[in-house]
Amino acid sequence: MNREQLALYQPLHVFDELLFNCVVDDLVEKGYSIQTSALPVFLTDALLACQDAINDTEYKNAGIGRAGDFQHARDIRGDNICWITGSSQEGELWLSWCNALKDFINKHLYLGLFSFESHFACYEPGKFYKRHVDAFKGKSNRVLSLVAYLNEDWNSNYGGELVLYKNDNDAEGIRVVPNLGTFVVFLSEQFPHEVLPATHKRNSVAGWYRVNGSVNDVIDPPR
Ligand code: OGA
Ligand code: MN
Repeated sequence: MNREQLALYQPLHVFDELLFNCVVDDLVEKGYSIQTSALPVFLTDALLACQDAINDTEYKNAGIGRAGDFQHARDIRGDNICWITGSSQEGELWLSWCNALKDFINKHLYLGLFSFESHFACYEPGKFYKRHVDAFKGKSNRVLSLVAYLNEDWNSNYGGELVLYKNDNDAEGIRVVPNLGTFVVFLSEQFPHEVLPATHKRNSVAGWYRVNGSVNDVIDPPR
C-alpha cells in the first residue's frame, strides 16, 4: 500500500466506529469480545503484506515471563514471534488502527490504556501454547489483550483453536477458529487461554494494551 492509498483510510475512526462499539459493548458485558471475520479487508491485506515481508531469520522463539529455562519454555509455548515496529507502512497502519481502538476504549470505558505493543506469531504444525494468563493480578501493567488471525482458507478440522476460559475454574472454554480477519479482545488478567496444536501452519498477530506503570520518574519500558 502506498502513501496515497494509506491516506484514503484516514481518519480511521470513521471506518471503525461500529466495530469498536461492538467491542466496547462486549467488554462491558463479558470482559471479552470475539469478532468473527470482522477486521476490515484493508487491514488484513496490510497485515498479510507485512507478515510476508518478514524474513525467516527475523522470527525468534517466543519465551515466557518466568522460567528462564529454554526447554521448559518450549514445553509451554512453541510459537515463533516477530515484533511489529511500525517500520513499514503496513505495520504502521496496524499500529494506528490498534491505537484508534485504544482511544475509543479509553473514551468509553476509562481504562486509561497508555501504550500498545504487538507481534506476529507463527505456530508450525503441532506447536501450541498451553493454558496461561497474559498478566498476573497486580504484577503487570498489561490490561487488555488482542489477538487477530491471518489464516486464509482455514478448515475447522485443522485444529489450532484459541480456547478462551471464562475463569480459573472453567474447564470447557470457548473455542475460536483462527480464520482470517477474526479477532479477540479480552481483559489480560481475567481470562486464561490456550492455543491448541494444528495440522497446518497457524499465523496470528497478538498485542497488549498497557497502563502506564512509570513510578518516580523511572520510565516504564514498553515491553
Ligand atoms: C499469546 C496468545 C493466542 C493466539 O501470544 O499470549 O495467547 O491465539 N496467543 O495466538
Ligand atoms: Mn496469551
